[in-house]
Amino acid sequence: MKEQIDQVRAQFLQDFQQLSDARAVEQFRIKFLGKNGLVTGLFKQLGQVDKAERPAVGKMLNELRREVEELIRQSKEQFGAAKKESTIDLTLPGRQPAYGGKHPLSVVREEAKQIFAKLGFTVADGPEVETDYYNFEALNIPRLHPARNMQDTLYITEDLVLRTHTSPVQIRTMLRQKPPVRIIAPGRVYRRDTPDASHSPVFHQVEGLCVDEGVSMADLKAVLSVFVREMFGKEFKVRFRPSYFPFTEPSAEMDLWWESSRGGRWLELLGCGMVHPNVLSEVGIDPEKYTGWAFGVGIDRLAMLKYAIDDIRLFFENDMRFLEQFS
Ligand code: PHE
Repeated sequence: MKEQIDQVRAQFLQDFQQLSDARAVEQFRIKFLGKNGLVTGLFKQLGQVDKAERPAVGKMLNELRREVEELIRQSKEQFGAAKKESTIDLTLPGRQPAYGGKHPLSVVREEAKQIFAKLGFTVADGPEVETDYYNFEALNIPRLHPARNMQDTLYITEDLVLRTHTSPVQIRTMLRQKPPVRIIAPGRVYRRDTPDASHSPVFHQVEGLCVDEGVSMADLKAVLSVFVREMFGKEFKVRFRPSYFPFTEPSAEMDLWWESSRGGRWLELLGCGMVHPNVLSEVGIDPEKYTGWAFGVGIDRLAMLKYAIDDIRLFFENDMRFLEQFS
């Protein structure tokens, strides 16, 4: 046994000198330590060695294996890098980068901005966490006014709310800027609604506000008709229905005559009206000298009509199969 051990040792010391690359190292490993390797073979014979000598022989074998392992470790260090290089296949096609795309609500918001930019409107902004004053009070909705029921919201504190509409941006703008005012204010709004196909506690609006001398409801109708035509790419029959908002007088809702395969019907699109004199006075604009109109349109509603989407929740689930259809 001792002779065999020396023989194997002599052999691997000799083979070791010949090693030239990672593949040879692997063959070397298999030759000595593989299932049918020479060192492994010696271990298998250990059972036949005299019981008395077995511990000593076992010790020698362990030593032998350790030596081979050490040689393998050394050569792997030496040839390892070479191995990596040789496995790069330069003929493979490159990796396809994944392209991002715009969310459908962003597409519609950007389009709305562009349409109104052409009509001379700039973009204004306001916070989503709004004070009670800007969201309600200044818009002619006092604390105990029943109109508060129309827009139940989420209260952060008694005086801080998640804004229920983009109308507070009207107030913020008019406090900063005196007429002529022509702005739109796109953004996120919140209501205490249970989600279903047409309701979401978070949704989006674009506010529009125009204040100047001699501004009338006719201007409002003209601007909104242009907006709808540009947004949907065709002329629509629209109607203005009397409605109520505390911050406009008179107030109206604009409906579109919508033709689909199921026939035509009136679809409610947005709320609008002439800015209430109380609102103008509140921000220090003389209601005897100036008039204005305002509207608020749901971006989600526009996107649902434009892309024939029947459930508002699809916008917020972030299912890639849905979103990918718009980029
Ligand atoms: N803020 C109203 C709403 O969210 C819409 C509106 C805006 C109505 C401006 C009139 C004028 O319901």
